[in-house]
Amino acid sequence: MAKTSFSCSACGASFSKWSGRCEGCGEWNTISEDKGLSSGPSKKSLGVKRGRTIPLSDLATREIPPPRACCGVGELDRVLGGGLVAASAILVGGDPGIGKSTLLLQAAARFAKAGVKTIYVSGEEASAQVRMRAQRLGLADAPVQLAAETNLRDILTTLEAEKPQLAIIDSIQTMWSDHVDSAPGSVSQVRAAAHELTTFAKRNGVSIIMVGHVTKDGQIAGPRVVEHMVDTVLYFEGERGHQFRILRAVKNRFGPADEIGVFEMTGGGLAEVINPSALFLSERGEPSPGSVVFAGIEGTRPVLVEMQALIAPSPHSQPRRAVVGWDSSRLAMILAVLEARCGIPFAGLDVYLNVAGGMKISEPAADLAVAAALLSAREDVALPADTVVFGEISLSGALRPAPQTENRLKEAQKLGFTAAIAPGGSKTVSVNGLNLRKSSDLAGFVGEFFGAG
Ligand code: TYD
Ligand code: MG
Repeated sequence: MAKTSFSCSACGASFSKWSGRCEGCGEWNTISEDKGLSSGPSKKSLGVKRGRTIPLSDLATREIPPPRACCGVGELDRVLGGGLVAASAILVGGDPGIGKSTLLLQAAARFAKAGVKTIYVSGEEASAQVRMRAQRLGLADAPVQLAAETNLRDILTTLEAEKPQLAIIDSIQTMWSDHVDSAPGSVSQVRAAAHELTTFAKRNGVSIIMVGHVTKDGQIAGPRVVEHMVDTVLYFEGERGHQFRILRAVKNRFGPADEIGVFEMTGGGLAEVINPSALFLSERGEPSPGSVVFAGIEGTRPVLVEMQALIAPSPHSQPRRAVVGWDSSRLAMILAVLEARCGIPFAGLDVYLNVAGGMKISEPAADLAVAAALLSAREDVALPADTVVFGEISLSGALRPAPQTENRLKEAQKLGFTAAIAPGGSKTVSVNGLNLRKSSDLAGFVGEFFGAG
């Protein structure tokens, strides 16, 4: 007999015996016995009964893999790794209200029009509401089948009978499976539903896209284990006040991770943004101190974004360090390197750093652009407006070359920039009309462009 285990339905912690209060999160009456997920072979022996032989196959095969289905929305197809893979399970996470249902309804309509049999199951809205939204988006003529249902058993039975190629489940938190005792949205329900849907996708050759809400701390509500189960995890992110939305692949078994697709929320739904750099830079005016353009790479594509810094004398004994769109510990590191290696102190100064347009940057190559923005704000000197900056800063103050120098330079040139500042070790590439200036360390960079240090 398999050993029983217990888990907390609020935080997901697992225990070997039952207790009234979860030691993990302190909640009362949330621990219940785990059951449901198909149990694997028991530890010791499977007994005398023999299993059936499973067919084995070679790695080399003549079977042609099924082609990926493209919906024609280039930004979405690219983030999926070049189209939708048959029998894959995809999780799309994002804050409530960011536009997940809109995105997926539009995708469903495009896939259906491209000849992919598509079912859209909404657990949050009634069919009439989904239909109304589709009408407003001008998609009413797409051959998408709709259902409003939350019972997982009924949904799977329907999918088995209808045999669609793509099913969209909006959202995983509203689904409930009747062999798990806790409420919909609880960790054990979400986990069971994701497991059932993923298994169903593999067995029946249906691609399933699940919507997942994200908690305040940025995790897809429910255990992280849902992310391990699925093939692809996409995050749909953006700032409420901005109309830009970014679909980011954080995990993809069938394509590059870190790929992004950029959309704009309009009155008529989400519109693709083919040239994000132009959009992110569209609000730039005259050269101003504290603003520097970073030539970045997101996934396979170069993207230019503006880094903005503001430095002001602090009225507090503990000066403020506020960051939007970048890592705050990375900012602390850059400030420390500027102080230790270039003798430029930031003590007693409030530092604000913002990535324009609601972008989130995680590339280390943004270091030099951030340092340039900080210096420019502190010294009140603007860099020439036609210059882009990139490069990684090490703790010693040396500048490390960033990958894909050529792509960055070409994108900058395409958008009308005429100069680039890059680390000394960068590959020498000549791009017509673009002047590449190299600095080997941070102190040299500071001296050359800000006359200090
Ligand atoms: P929705 O897709 O319902 O978000 P989610 O499923 O992620 O919770 O999108 C909700 C927001 O999108 C809502 O605040 C209004 C906005 N929106 C538009 O601006 N234009 C549109 O055409 C649509 C359908 C929604
Ligand atoms: Mg929704």
